Amino acid sequence: MTVAAMVENERAAALMNENNAHSRAEAMIRTNNLWKTYIMGDEEIHALRGVTFEIKRNEYVAIIGPSGSGKSTLMNLIGCLDTPSKGDYWLNGKLVSAMDDDELAHIRNKEIGFVFQTFNLLPRASALHNVELPLIYSGMPASDRIERAKQALEAVELTNRMTHKPNELSGGQRQRVAIARALVNNPSIILADEPTGNLDSKTSTEIMQLFEHLHERGNTIILVTHEHDIAAHAHRVVSILDGQISKDERIR
Ligand SMILES: Nc1ncnc2c1ncn2[C@@H]1O[C@H](COP(=O)(O)OP(=O)(O)OP(=O)(O)O)[C@@H](O)[C@H]1O
Ligand SMILES: [Mg+2]
Repeated sequence: MTVAAMVENERAAALMNENNAHSRAEAMIRTNNLWKTYIMGDEEIHALRGVTFEIKRNEYVAIIGPSGSGKSTLMNLIGCLDTPSKGDYWLNGKLVSAMDDDELAHIRNKEIGFVFQTFNLLPRASALHNVELPLIYSGMPASDRIERAKQALEAVELTNRMTHKPNELSGGQRQRVAIARALVNNPSIILADEPTGNLDSKTSTEIMQLFEHLHERGNTIILVTHEHDIAAHAHRVVSILDGQISKDERIR
């Protein structure tokens, strides 16, 4: 081999390493052959059967599939609420699949904002206090907490409803409080499981516009749904069937 060819080879190798390092850094979520098996008596239920995929920072991904296909199971793993039976999961370069419960709770509080179909707000607490709660868990001083909670409520355009309790708000407003609560810790990912499942179609559209706005602001959003018109708001749609990815397409 000539010296020139050797130099060229080395340059190519260096470039490849750089590219690999770059793509590793970019993948916020990376899973390798994730399995989740539930044991029920004598029966083994394979809720996930080898899921391998990546989600980059600031992606907006919908996970869609029929009932029982494994969407919530996958969301629970991504959200660090549960650990896989087999396979690896890296979140921001950290190997989550090997963590114990304390480490999982810590990473969950820091990195993930959850939005649920049923809002899961504290009924007796004001909108402001509901949004402030995650910051209490993370030990932030009270004055900073209130400031941050107000900012999050401002981001979902609810400054004029901060003192209302959940039963003094409309369904869409309740979900916006829940989204503000998900945002308040400045998580790297917002995970939403059927966030419009309890809303009428007009209010659903408003909530989807809010997710679009949050995505434009730089948030990474993963949305679980079984409705195609809701999934169509995302920029990438991952289809799950029988615990496996059956399709993965960029739609805009
Ligand atoms: N804790 C559990 N123990 C045993 N089996 C479970 C458990 N959780 C889920 N399963 C089973 O795993 C499979 C996947 O369930 P999962 O909740 O992930 O489905 P899903 O896609 O979210 O469905 P849906 O659209 O109805 O919410 C189902 O067959 C379900 O019965
Ligand atoms: Mg589900």
